[in-house]
Amino acid sequence: MVLGLFGYGTIGRGVYTLVENLSKKYDVKIKKVFDLPIKKEILGDKLVTDIDDIINDNDIDAVVEVLGGHDLPYQVISNCLKKGKSVITANKEVVSMHLEEFINTAHENKCSFCFEASVGGGIPIIRPLIDNIKVNEVNNIFGILNGTTNYILTKMGDEGLSFDEALALAKKNGFAEANPTADLEGLDIVRKINILSSLAYKGNICNDDIYHYGITGVTKEILDDIKSRGYVLKFVASSVKNGNDVTIRVEPTMVPNGHPLSAVKNEFNAILFTGSTNDMLQFYGKGAGSIPTATAIVSDLVSIIEKRAYIDYKNENQLEVNKKHVNSNTYYVIDNDNKVSLRMDIEDEELLASKFYARVLM
Ligand code: HSE
Repeated sequence: MVLGLFGYGTIGRGVYTLVENLSKKYDVKIKKVFDLPIKKEILGDKLVTDIDDIINDNDIDAVVEVLGGHDLPYQVISNCLKKGKSVITANKEVVSMHLEEFINTAHENKCSFCFEASVGGGIPIIRPLIDNIKVNEVNNIFGILNGTTNYILTKMGDEGLSFDEALALAKKNGFAEANPTADLEGLDIVRKINILSSLAYKGNICNDDIYHYGITGVTKEILDDIKSRGYVLKFVASSVKNGNDVTIRVEPTMVPNGHPLSAVKNEFNAILFTGSTNDMLQFYGKGAGSIPTATAIVSDLVSIIEKRAYIDYKNENQLEVNKKHVNSNTYYVIDNDNKVSLRMDIEDEELLASKFYARVLM
């Protein structure tokens, strides 16, 4: 199997290393790597700076896309699939927006589209979910889906680091996105919970319809107060399906000590699925970082080599995403005079106007 690699950043380097190891067991090699001219010193003749050098290379059977962003990755993925090249990507942004289109294009052109690394970093979650929902009707997804913010909350809460110090460390460790706003404001989680919900509920969901509120307002004092109440603060995605109505929220959440999510620390992620036949399933592992994420990508590669990469996603349900606040939740709200109160039946507008808020998990 001859590969093209788009992107030689944190994840791309991990993929390069793991493919070299894999070539001891499988007939696989990376022929070309697309990146900026500055990478010439490391990549030598393998470097190409025009995406068409890979897209139009008939020797290349499959590509890995780890560029990040939307426009260029969309062009790369779409054109490679149309040429019959299988595509593996870690890009949550493009997958969450074009999942059905990419899967259909792959089927039409008899190649594979794989995106295990787009959710949960190194946790095998996409393939198990796709297999499981053939039997188990999943109607609730709940979890921690961002390594950077979980790392920040852990370092602030357990080790007393400031927000900025913890973010700097998350960047240094290769967990954060190029622009960490997507991590901090919850957009990265929106994309991931969208992918999981679309697969589980078999319908398209628009990222813009998913409510999200970030963690940039968190301080050490807030974390200490939450701790004194017997809770730990986590950045949580929750997705609930009731008939064709879906409610998805991404917001800081107070998790009681002893709850499975309370013990998830640093860059680890955990996702809990509840369904009709399985009760609760839990997935746990490193949600960010070069080698864990590259492991998920290279597992996809092995599934392509072994011809078991087919994904039969069907958009068969007209899902209605409820954009209104679920008012049965309780919220911890800090108003602009720094007064803390526990509130029920509170509208999103009021939550968003507060200084900081978190959902309280009962
Ligand atoms: N920035 C992402 C995170 C990378 O921190 O979870 C993995 O998707």
